Amino acid sequence: MSKPLSERYQQALRTLESIDQAQVFRFYEQLNDQQRDQLLTQVENIDWPEVARLVETHVKRTPALNLPKNVQPAPYYPCQPTSELKPRYQQARSLGEQLIREGKVAAFIVAGGQGTRLGWDGPKGTFPATPIRKLSLFGCFAEYLIALNIRFGVSIPWYVMTSLVNDADTRAFFAAQNYFGLNRQDVFIFPQAMMPAMDMATAKVLLADRDSLALSPNGHGGSLKALHTSGALKDMAQRGIEQISYVQVDNPIVRVVDPLFLGLHALDSAQMSSKMLPKCEPFEKLGNFCLINGQVTVIEYSNLPQELAVQRLDNGDLRFRAGSIALHAIRVDFVRKLNEAPGGFALPFNRAEKKVPFVDLQTGEMVSPQKPNAIKLETFVFDALPMAQTSIIYETSRDDEFAPIKNATAPGAVDSPATSTAMQIDRARTWLRQAGVEVADDAVVEIKATTALYPEDLRQVKLPKSIGPGEIVLL
Ligand code: UD1
Repeated sequence: MSKPLSERYQQALRTLESIDQAQVFRFYEQLNDQQRDQLLTQVENIDWPEVARLVETHVKRTPALNLPKNVQPAPYYPCQPTSELKPRYQQARSLGEQLIREGKVAAFIVAGGQGTRLGWDGPKGTFPATPIRKLSLFGCFAEYLIALNIRFGVSIPWYVMTSLVNDADTRAFFAAQNYFGLNRQDVFIFPQAMMPAMDMATAKVLLADRDSLALSPNGHGGSLKALHTSGALKDMAQRGIEQISYVQVDNPIVRVVDPLFLGLHALDSAQMSSKMLPKCEPFEKLGNFCLINGQVTVIEYSNLPQELAVQRLDNGDLRFRAGSIALHAIRVDFVRKLNEAPGGFALPFNRAEKKVPFVDLQTGEMVSPQKPNAIKLETFVFDALPMAQTSIIYETSRDDEFAPIKNATAPGAVDSPATSTAMQIDRARTWLRQAGVEVADDAVVEIKATTALYPEDLRQVKLPKSIGPGEIVLL
């Protein structure tokens, strides 16, 4: 039996009064029981002692960024192996394939973000991403997994992290798509935790409505805890999963599970590893892979000192050239250890100043601010990298693996549906040309993952001799 509302209210009120946040109950007396239950449930799911701590360190002030002096570029495995590395890459690829074949690898998509920049009314994963079929982002990942399942004779379990803002819609989409033909029991959808937004001037938690806190997902760093609290880690243990392939929801051409990368990570007994792209310019908006006291660490583009960002090697390459595209291989027992650490584990919070609509406590009216009025707090998954004893980085190719959809299409916009579509078509044309097909520069081509995961897979496919100007071809 759950506790009566009045008892829950008294308990919550005591907690909030003790940290000077009881204003969230300003309209409580006017709410019906269902609304009271909603508000109380939200309040009960927040770690208030943590919020109180963060108010002091991150809301009332901006935490100082203390970059140590000895920041070095992190070493990485190159995209194309040197002759010395060739045998290691071969060994790694076989090991990665073996891990997949033995059912030891899970795919993990973080899709809890609000996707505000894209302006899409729905979970970002439902966005129509491919050039011809307009297959959704979730559909792209599902198709990739289906292709791997066929190739390796397995059913790779797929974990999808949502958040309260899109959990119900994501589940409904998967159900409506009949789980894209995947085994229903191999898809595990779970929400991450939320954080309240706080007024910048008063450090008070804002209300999004009279019966609702202004909440937002607690950052993709929340995934490492949510894997534990949701029961996903337990589920992985029961299935014998050892490695997690972590990818973001925004990239339709990502290798959802990459045997070579997983193999390099496993061969080096790494706990958490990353893929990188060489930055195309010093200030490209990618996190920078660095070494701090020997530990791999990502320094966000906004935090890397300019004098480091522009440094170049003798060959002209940027000295800090390894940019993070937020793709990781993570050992299951590493995530378990983090969660079982005495006193729990905490990733550092990052402060962001945002426009957050809120209810005016005096008038009860909704206010839509024109400039940032609130502090949101998020943790980042890459901040777990320095907690790994060993962490490797592998360079991937931008053309083959990075066509993200983050911003709405607009003149000059980067990482938009338009730029992603153009890159997907370019990649398809390149692969076909490598396979000997003549392809006109303005042909529109889409290659399904089930047709080819790699360019060399096209050798097994019946292909046209040529694709003429303006032709639209789905393979
Ligand atoms: C991110 C990285 C950046 C990297 C880039 C590559 C951060 C802070 N920056 O930028 O270093 O170069 O990707 O594409 O991460 N998400 C959640 N829950 C949350 C917040 C986000 O699941 O609470 C998910 C989103 O759904 C998305 C991913 O995390 O899949 C990225 O989130 P976003 O905040 O948009 O980061 P980017 O600005 O794209």
